[in-house]
Amino acid sequence: MNNSYLLISSVGIEFETDNEPFRALQDINLPIQKGEFISLIGHSGCGKSTVLNIVAGLYQATEGGIILEGKEVNEPGPDRAVVFQNHALLPWLTVYQNVELAVKRVFKKTKTKTEMHDWVLHNLSLVHMDHALHKLPGEISGGMKQRVGIARCLAMQPKVLLMDEPFGALDALTRAHLQDSLMEIQGRLGNTVVMITHDVDEAVLLSDRIVMMTNGPAATIGEILDVKLPRPRDRLALAEDPDFIHYRQQVLKFLYEKQKNPASPLSINSSSKNGETEHSSVSADAA
Ligand SMILES: Nc1ncnc2c1ncn2[C@@H]1O[C@H](COP(=O)(O)OP(=O)(O)O)[C@@H](O)[C@H]1O
Ligand SMILES: [Mg+2]
Repeated sequence: MNNSYLLISSVGIEFETDNEPFRALQDINLPIQKGEFISLIGHSGCGKSTVLNIVAGLYQATEGGIILEGKEVNEPGPDRAVVFQNHALLPWLTVYQNVELAVKRVFKKTKTKTEMHDWVLHNLSLVHMDHALHKLPGEISGGMKQRVGIARCLAMQPKVLLMDEPFGALDALTRAHLQDSLMEIQGRLGNTVVMITHDVDEAVLLSDRIVMMTNGPAATIGEILDVKLPRPRDRLALAEDPDFIHYRQQVLKFLYEKQKNPASPLSINSSSKNGETEHSSVSADAA
């Protein structure tokens, strides 16, 4: 337990409200190994983002804490880079400059100008965005922006890559491409990743372990599923793989039988945002 790379240790949090404090999380314990790919899944509002924000140092836990390589971390740092659903690129900077900004922040003292330049290009080529270096965020698609956001985080060489529904706002095809890119990059670099998703197929496809959260208030870890599918993983082959189907059933069972939440049906069907219909997480990828 103590020799884990990243440890979420007895974490609980209460938020102040106008009335009594609201207990969002209780007793979250999760040791994570270096190079592991972890997904957090659970119904909307259960506390997934809160867990991620505590690991990122953006929220302070009321109880317990986060240990990274043996040291407690309780404020944001470049060792924990966060990819949000809406990329958060600076709109007045080009693709290149957005990544360069992060690289300068982290490597100003350790890399030369040329090295930093090469490093920016290298990371943009990892996500296949080296053809659009001088475009502004407003000139590229949502999927491309998300690629740049991922490149920016990778370029910081974080110890842990934190992703909060990184592909949630993308269409099914773009989402599939980015999942494949992420798997390929993670396979090559061995990043330690904690990703939130509400997409069951995405969780099974990408993860070493799927951490399933109970409904709030006072949400905690309900079950953890070890996904022992060999890598590299191929989505087409897996669609009919009995193990894949079994894992997927396990997660669905947890979400729709054990943690049934009539108030917030998870996206078995689609939810819509800004008039755009999100793809059905369960059926689209299986098709
Ligand atoms: N800053 C905050 N202040 C008060 N309540 C919060 C705050 N952040 C999250 N919550 C509450 O905590 C619960 C979990 O939220 P969140 O982590 O965003 O859920 P999820 O990401 O699983 O959808 C929700 O009830 C939410 O309203
Ligand atoms: Mg969330």
